[in-house]
Amino acid sequence: MPRVLQISDSHLSSGKPHFAANWPPLRRWIEAQDAALVVHTGDVTVDGADQEEDMEHGAAMLHALNIPVMALPGNHDVGEAGHPHQPVDGLRLARWRRHFGQDHWLRDVGDWRLIGLNSMLFGEGGPEEAAQRAWLDQAMAGAGGRPVAWFMHQPLFIADPDEPDTGYWSVKPEPRRDLLALARRSNVRLIASGHLHKAHHAEVAGVHHVWCPASGFLVGAALQPELAGDARLGAVILDLEGPEVSVTVSEVPGLQDLWIDDVIHEVYPPRQAA
Ligand SMILES: [Fe+2]
Ligand SMILES: [Fe+2]
Repeated sequence: MPRVLQISDSHLSSGKPHFAANWPPLRRWIEAQDAALVVHTGDVTVDGADQEEDMEHGAAMLHALNIPVMALPGNHDVGEAGHPHQPVDGLRLARWRRHFGQDHWLRDVGDWRLIGLNSMLFGEGGPEEAAQRAWLDQAMAGAGGRPVAWFMHQPLFIADPDEPDTGYWSVKPEPRRDLLALARRSNVRLIASGHLHKAHHAEVAGVHHVWCPASGFLVGAALQPELAGDARLGAVILDLEGPEVSVTVSEVPGLQDLWIDDVIHEVYPPRQAA
């Protein structure tokens, strides 16, 4: 029964080590799990979208793990579609690929096909988004009868698949509709994301939707609207049992409840107007 671990939102940085204390306990927990694979669903870094050193540092931490790890970019790693200061672009994607490898990938584990997607390209509208989407069709077609798990940074939706644009917090309605339609007409059984820094697991129409908690920090009510899920740090254990998956949101002993609210002026200071 292969075990896959999902971790997320470590927000590592050599220059801004505010959340660095939470990496060693996470590493120890990962290395005690006897897992086949670790998937990091993004925001590996504090500001890899602009800081080469953050990418170097985050990649060094991941690559020092003693089991295989695959990573996906978050908004703080490669920017966001349409962002005025940090748009996802060729430079940022090239930096990610240099340090972490492809920003979308597939791995077959046990009876399952695991597909990692760069959600920061959804709605971006350029050739990189189109190329990933065409690649996804091929990856799905090649799955045969395997159950499929999708991993990505942003959740496809917060509370309702048909909800309007949630802004920063989830994938935009147009790409969301397209992806959910693809999921419904194929054998997608699990959609696992990060980004919200909250733990949540719901089964909707036979599909497990899992929000992996962050390992780096929690987000207070002043910075995030009311959402489902639990404000806790941790990780997710996915035990692949034939065509089924057992999902466990796990505590990670030793993680400290650090809050971004206490240090946001240092870690993510407001941008100057000019
Ligand atoms: Fe994050
Ligand atoms: Fe994020």
